[in-house]
Amino acid sequence: MCKRICLSGRWTCAIMISTFISLISFPSIRVLSNIQERDSQMEQPKDSTTLMVGFSLKTGATHYIIRIQNDDGFFREDEVSSSPAEIVSLSPYTEYALSIMSANSGGRSQPSLPVTAKTVLPPPQLSTSSPSNDSIIVSWAPVAHAVQYSMSIYDFGSNTNMKHNTSNTNLTISGLAAGSLYAIKGFAWDLEGREGEGSLYINQTTRPPTPSFVNVSIVTSNGVAGLSVSWKLDQDVYGSIWYHVMSDQNRTCNSTSSSCTLLAVGCGEVHTIKVIALNNAGPSFPSSPVVFITFPCPPESLALVESTEGNCTLTWGMVPHADSYVAFFKRGDGTEETCNTTSNNCKYHCLCGYTYLLSVFAYNEAGSSPQGQILNYTTLPCCPEGVSVSVVSTDTLEIMWMASRGAELYQTRAADSSEVILCNDTAPVCALSDLSCDSPYSVLVTPCNEISGCNRACKAHTKDTGRKLIFIDTYVSSKYPSTFDSFFPLSPSAPCMPINLMLNPKNSSCVSVSWTGAHSFITSLTSTRGHARCHTQDSHCLMGCITCGTNYTVTMEAFSKSGHMSNCTYKGFSSSACCPSGVRLYSIAGNSLRVYWRSAGSSHSYITEMVGTSNNSSNYTCTASPGASSCDFGNIQCGDVYHVVVAPLTPEGSKVLFCPQRLYSGMTVGFHSNVWW
Ligand SMILES: *[C@@H]1O[C@H](CO)[C@@H](O)[C@H](O)[C@H]1NC(C)=O
Ligand SMILES: *[C@@H]1O[C@H](CO)[C@@H](O)[C@H](O)[C@H]1NC(C)=O
Ligand SMILES: *[C@@H]1O[C@H](CO)[C@@H](O)[C@H](O)[C@H]1NC(C)=O
Ligand SMILES: *[C@@H]1O[C@H](CO)[C@@H](O)[C@H](O)[C@H]1NC(C)=O
Ligand SMILES: *[C@@H]1O[C@H](CO)[C@@H](O)[C@H](O)[C@H]1NC(C)=O
Ligand SMILES: *[C@@H]1O[C@H](CO)[C@@H](O)[C@H](O)[C@H]1NC(C)=O
Ligand SMILES: *[C@@H]1O[C@H](CO)[C@@H](O)[C@H](O)[C@H]1NC(C)=O
Ligand SMILES: *[C@@H]1O[C@H](CO)[C@@H](O)[C@H](O)[C@H]1NC(C)=O
Ligand SMILES: *[C@@H]1O[C@H](CO)[C@@H](O)[C@H](O)[C@H]1NC(C)=O
Ligand SMILES: *[C@@H]1O[C@H](CO)[C@@H](O)[C@H](O)[C@H]1NC(C)=O
Ligand SMILES: *[C@@H]1O[C@H](CO)[C@@H](O)[C@H](O)[C@H]1NC(C)=O
Ligand SMILES: *[C@@H]1O[C@H](CO)[C@@H](O)[C@H](O)[C@H]1NC(C)=O
Repeated sequence: MCKRICLSGRWTCAIMISTFISLISFPSIRVLSNIQERDSQMEQPKDSTTLMVGFSLKTGATHYIIRIQNDDGFFREDEVSSSPAEIVSLSPYTEYALSIMSANSGGRSQPSLPVTAKTVLPPPQLSTSSPSNDSIIVSWAPVAHAVQYSMSIYDFGSNTNMKHNTSNTNLTISGLAAGSLYAIKGFAWDLEGREGEGSLYINQTTRPPTPSFVNVSIVTSNGVAGLSVSWKLDQDVYGSIWYHVMSDQNRTCNSTSSSCTLLAVGCGEVHTIKVIALNNAGPSFPSSPVVFITFPCPPESLALVESTEGNCTLTWGMVPHADSYVAFFKRGDGTEETCNTTSNNCKYHCLCGYTYLLSVFAYNEAGSSPQGQILNYTTLPCCPEGVSVSVVSTDTLEIMWMASRGAELYQTRAADSSEVILCNDTAPVCALSDLSCDSPYSVLVTPCNEISGCNRACKAHTKDTGRKLIFIDTYVSSKYPSTFDSFFPLSPSAPCMPINLMLNPKNSSCVSVSWTGAHSFITSLTSTRGHARCHTQDSHCLMGCITCGTNYTVTMEAFSKSGHMSNCTYKGFSSSACCPSGVRLYSIAGNSLRVYWRSAGSSHSYITEMVGTSNNSSNYTCTASPGASSCDFGNIQCGDVYHVVVAPLTPEGSKVLFCPQRLYSGMTVGFHSNVWW
């Protein structure tokens, strides 16, 4: 007979063998009563494979033998020395017949009458999990013969115990605290109403609480933008917690602290961000989504319209998620205008002869767009001022003007009713020779540059050529003028050849020709690339419109007083080396500058001079070897303005003096490039 006893909070079964044992009389055995044995730890079977027996000691017995058997063929005899005794290694929930014998060296007594006892149910094998932040599911395989189960949940936080009974093989315990530790154990009840062996305690944590106070801000590190996501740490949770942040734009980060950064976000992105906390039990319910819009992308399709001279309008394409735009108009001399607008265009004042760098940044709450397109726009060169036209001989006009901003080249055009003479030069002076005399010429100086072209809106100036050599027209038309004698003394012999012929370039298109020993009438310079002439009876003339960098043949038709002519030809006169075209400056690594140009011929060396305009700036000179087309300058002061000249060196090593000077300023922050004008 087995009785339930409650010891240390668990139900168990004990058997008392009650009969005393003697050598001649068999002992009797009794089931330990739960009531009388409640206080005795010793008499509690420790699990479902153990029975406890109690018996009275017999005089003369040195030990006792307990026989255990059942209908399934189980038979075992355990030797014990005292009461109560523990019978171990039995099967759970199995009935056994137990009898006792006293024994000494003489033998053993008869066995007592058997009593039957049944071990209790084995413990359920619990497994636990937490499906949510406030519940735990306990489940177990069914225990054979169990009719009900009891679960005990210990809350470490409040130090309290809860009990649940169920006939299912699982139990959902809800209403728990998030991220908290619970200990769970259980046992089964059998048909006889006996409590089975209790399971061990299992620790289970509920899932962590949802992260709260999620905040997103933009951060930049090493030029890469990221989203810094932070949240409030919950102090009351048990065990280690880590966090996982995810954006619907395929960005994640993990952290064990209260923030982490979603790396490498781009412009114009809309991120929906959620944070989950994780612990051993699994992930929390995600935080409510935070929508964050990154800084806008740079505006594209920048275009400039110069509506009227001095009025420029910059337009651009609107970009998504932009609240406003700031346009920067950076002029070549370093001055800058800005325009702050919510629309897609800005007007500004644009002056002739400047290069403008135009750029637009879009703004929203997350900040400014990155640098986008930089539109560079060069306005037409300014019209030259102070144009003076003077007559240097009957067929030659010398034209001078003040250098105008933005001009790389001047085209000078002299036109009368019958002819047009054109002359290109980089210097602000030009001689037009071989003109018709006594004729009103309209002289127009047109400034040009490579980028924006020529300013066709400049005004013409009118000037008459000299009257003195009226016959020239006749001569030119008839070749042999009848009125010759009145100007040249006649002589029967051929005229002398001129000697000491000198060509002295005044600039790249003008040459002064002088000689001694002959009266000349027509002097010509001829090359494959051009032709120039002057008429004079002096021993010098100014010839314009020749081409730089060219070998000329000089021909002088010298006349004697008698009208005889000698045709004198001199080959191999070189015009001045050409000034380089396409001069550009670029900033290179560090605070250095590289000056580039297009070389006019590989045989020339070029000298580059850079003169600072501020008091404390330096002057730089660099001579490039023949064929080279760049020079580098170091330690350039940011924001300073420099005058830059690139000029070829003559074979004798002197600098060609008439190459144009240009200004350069280092651009300030906001533009990562530099500009010329
Ligand atoms: C819990 O047990 C019941 C009945 O035994 C079963 O229907 C249910 O699916 C079980 N639930 C879980 C979560 O195992
Ligand atoms: C359960 O957690 C408690 C408190 O941290 C700890 O003392 C105990 O050893 C744990 N039990 C198990 C079985 O891990
Ligand atoms: C627990 O999860 C539920 C959703 O399952 C959520 O609504 C609730 O806010 C969470 N509680 C805490 C404390 O995080
Ligand atoms: C997510 O990002 C990873 C790397 O950042 C990339 O390899 C992957 O293709 C992306 N997936 C999608 C669906 O955009
Ligand atoms: C973050 O943790 C999750 C799950 O723990 C893992 O799958 C993922 O690779 C981790 N991501 C990063 C960026 O470490
Ligand atoms: C530029 O435009 C403004 C107004 O749009 C006008 O008042 C001004 O006269 C214009 N300037 C020129 C040079 O056309
Ligand atoms: C543009 O103007 C708005 C409104 O006046 C101002 O809030 C904003 O700061 C300005 N932005 C810049 C870059 O100056
Ligand atoms: C300006 O534009 C020209 C031609 O489009 C280009 O070659 C040059 O590099 C640009 N200059 C700058 C400073 O962006
Ligand atoms: C002057 O320059 C223009 C363009 O720069 C060119 O078209 C023209 O042929 C040149 N004229 C002479 C005479 O060199
Ligand atoms: C001009 O003539 C000289 C001497 O003959 C020669 O070295 C030079 O290359 C020529 N220059 C040109 C541009 O033809
Ligand atoms: C003079 O000589 C040059 C070169 O030989 C020739 O081109 C020109 O026609 C000659 N002039 C006359 C008037 O014969
Ligand atoms: C640079 O050259 C200019 C003009 O030649 C001169 O006025 C200035 O003093 C020089 N500056 C330095 C620092 O040498």
